[in-house]
Amino acid sequence: MLIHVKGLLPDEPLQRCRQLLSKARWAEGGHTAGTQSAKVKNNLQLPPDAAQLPELRSIVIEYLQKNALFFSASLPRRVFPPLFNRYDGEANYFGDHVDNAVRTVPGTAEHVRTDISCTLFLTGPQDYEGGELIIEDSFGPRSIKLPAGDAILYPASSVHRVQPVTRGSRTSCFFWIESMVREAEHRRILFDMDVAILNLRQSDGDSAPVVSLTSCYHNLLRLWALP
Ligand code: NI
Repeated sequence: MLIHVKGLLPDEPLQRCRQLLSKARWAEGGHTAGTQSAKVKNNLQLPPDAAQLPELRSIVIEYLQKNALFFSASLPRRVFPPLFNRYDGEANYFGDHVDNAVRTVPGTAEHVRTDISCTLFLTGPQDYEGGELIIEDSFGPRSIKLPAGDAILYPASSVHRVQPVTRGSRTSCFFWIESMVREAEHRRILFDMDVAILNLRQSDGDSAPVVSLTSCYHNLLRLWALP
């Protein structure tokens, strides 16, 4: 399931993120990659000790927590602390790879199972050429290039890549989500149900069948959510 979250970051926090990133010292992106993906990774990344990282992360987390679509689609249990990358000049692509299944939160013994990957675009598509996120889906490759402030949620199990940036610079935020509901099929059913219930509530109000369906949603979530 690919979910496009429009306007995850409104203009003001988006500008603040850009301002912080414009002052940052960037490092080679290879240090957070696994051994296979390190061979095809050629980008820049904000290093773990970057002074701007705490504020950047808190902005992104604040807006994630406010977003109903993000919550409904991912049912987050843990979110890996957001990272930031840049593609331009000689460091301009990331070839086909899969994201590591489990990641350790730096400086802790906490592990995050990566069920869902998220890319939050911080540069508008008019400001760079290339740089599409290509996700191999069961329907074939999907090419993603979104407005600044928009995010894409996609299965962390999928092979994906970032096409070479041939003009301008592409900056984005990326992270992983461990979901309360491990099975992607279960998350899909819950998400579809949630969307349908919201639509029904708008047309029918909180009628008895709507309340009954809402109860089914919560009972399924209770059945499938991990402790
Ligand atoms: Ni990746």
